[in-house]
Amino acid sequence: MNELDPHSLQRVIEESELLLTCGPGGVGKTTTAAALGVAAAQAGRRTVVVTVDPARRLADALGLDDGAASDEPHRVDDIGSTAEGGELWALMLDAEKTFDRLVREQSGSRKQAETVLNNPVYQAISGSLSGAQEYMAIERLHQLHVSGEWDLVIVDTPPSRHAIDLLEAPDRLVGFLGHPVYRALTVGQRTFAKITDAATSMFLWAVKRLAGPQIVEDTLEFFRSLANIEGGLRHRAKQVSVLLRGEDTAFVVVTSPRAEAVGEAEHLLDAIADKKFPLGGLVVNLIHPLPEPLSDADERLLADLDPGPLADQVEWHRELSTLATAEREELVEVERLAGDAPVIELPLLPVDIHDVPGLVDLAERLT
Ligand SMILES: Nc1ncnc2c1ncn2[C@@H]1O[C@H](COP(=O)(O)OP(=O)(O)OP(=O)(O)O)[C@@H](O)[C@H]1O
Ligand SMILES: [Mg+2]
Repeated sequence: MNELDPHSLQRVIEESELLLTCGPGGVGKTTTAAALGVAAAQAGRRTVVVTVDPARRLADALGLDDGAASDEPHRVDDIGSTAEGGELWALMLDAEKTFDRLVREQSGSRKQAETVLNNPVYQAISGSLSGAQEYMAIERLHQLHVSGEWDLVIVDTPPSRHAIDLLEAPDRLVGFLGHPVYRALTVGQRTFAKITDAATSMFLWAVKRLAGPQIVEDTLEFFRSLANIEGGLRHRAKQVSVLLRGEDTAFVVVTSPRAEAVGEAEHLLDAIADKKFPLGGLVVNLIHPLPEPLSDADERLLADLDPGPLADQVEWHRELSTLATAEREELVEVERLAGDAPVIELPLLPVDIHDVPGLVDLAERLT
């Protein structure tokens, strides 16, 4: 076997058990997650990629339609030459189903699980709870990891307002379970009347007036039934929190060279270091390649060109050089923050990456 550079992304792909792509919105996290999956499968690993909200055409290419079956892994074919055992599977995150699975697993009995799952309030909010997507992406990662079926689980992160939400998701769940309003809502009915403060009573009174008493009853019932599995939820949030910091886990931060994205990526890298999450690499996507500089002789020759196609070409070359140079200056600090982790630049390609050959090409560039 050939020696791998200890600081290469290839090593991270070959040795990690969990990879998470994270970063600002629209920079190519989903695309990178899929391309990492291709690279891992080519390296001989049985890999599953959990995508969140992939662009329509990429979803089609990965065999994921909107149908119910997309929550389970589908095999992706034609990913180029793979070492023995290498396979790529993909699925689409379904936050509601993942939540349902979590509830079933944490409930003491089927009846207890059904009480939560059949509650109209649970049904209304399970997919849209604030932060639920982030938490469920990690929960799904945990479910796939413990199944023991995969060498590598790659999880893409939801397009959230702040990439950092992902890191805080497990702690936020624990925080939610400890919140005074939640605590007030989960105690038994009689105690409830005694301890509920004026604000909560007013709130419930208003909801009763507006939405009808049944909703209030359902809400209280929901929180009470949730209390039965609270211990389980807390325990799981802790397990997940530990798993994310494990030595087999790696975060791959993706950014573009745009100032706004770079700022958010810097913030994210700080948080990753601060909270002691393992960093696997920094991918700078959508970067303009630096054109070959012109020699002084060429510059002189081209200086006095008459207007025309050639002069336009030269002008375009100059503009591209200026832009590409500015992008590299923008990236100095974020690349410094990546420390020892590999930094990979992926060029802005002339076409969207929406099919498997496109991912294979990107996988090659990543490694
Ligand atoms: N290197 C590249 N060159 C050209 N197009 C690219 C490149 N990388 C990604 N794209 C395209 O950019 C678009 C956004 O990519 P992607 O969906 O992966 O971003 P994202 O970070 O997951 O977005 P979101 O935050 O919305 O989830 C897609 O259409 C994708 O095909
Ligand atoms: Mg995405």
